[in-house]
Amino acid sequence: MSTRIKEWNDVLPETELEKNWVTRVQLGQRQLAIYDTPTGLYASLALCNHAGADLCDGYFDGHIIECPLHQGAFDVRDGKAVCAPATRKMMTFDTRVHAGMVQVFI
Ligand code: FES
Repeated sequence: MSTRIKEWNDVLPETELEKNWVTRVQLGQRQLAIYDTPTGLYASLALCNHAGADLCDGYFDGHIIECPLHQGAFDVRDGKAVCAPATRKMMTFDTRVHAGMVQVFI
């Protein structure tokens, strides 16, 4: 079994972030959603864990992303599901800005 060591990965320049909104990025095979919030940046997988809709097409307000397909919702700070039909925590990743680049720890 191989274990992959996590590392900080550049995903886009900070200047290309959608302010107070969600930005879709590609990192290898993964599509990620980067959330710009009043308390900083957060990241999750872009696809909803309920039925696979693209959260980047959802409605974003403060710290809550609402899925565009069934209106399930998640708190992007910890991934917790806050509105049905979403019930499972979504996967989130540490995120930072370093040297002008948004980076995600994966
Ligand atoms: S696909 Fe997101 S709530 Fe159903």
